[in-house]
Amino acid sequence: MANCGYDFERASQAVKNGEVDMVSFGTLFISNPDLVERFKTGAELETGDKSTFYGGDEKGYTDYPTL
Ligand SMILES: Cc1cc2nc3c(=O)[nH]c(=O)nc-3n(C[C@H](O)[C@H](O)[C@H](O)COP(=O)(O)O)c2cc1C
Repeated sequence: MANCGYDFERASQAVKNGEVDMVSFGTLFISNPDLVERFKTGAELETGDKSTFYGGDEKGYTDYPTL
């Protein structure tokens, strides 16, 4: 299982090529709580503000909206 800096395209290629069995997502899930649905529909992704990821409360960590 691979992770770190993957987007949907790169992850799909890595699985298709047999480089990895699966890819997990961390950062993208923070700013896109409905990440799987967005991948499925090709919806735009929210980039997220990394400066608030490690703030210690929900602001910018668990309060991003779904589509
Ligand atoms: C806000 C945040 C906190 C994280 N905290 C830890 C941690 O405490 N320990 C750890 O091993 N990895 C931690 N990670 C790394 C993730 O577990 C995961 O390996 C990484 O985010 C995956 O890559 P991606 O964010 O590019 O999808 C953290 C990542 C983020 C974004």
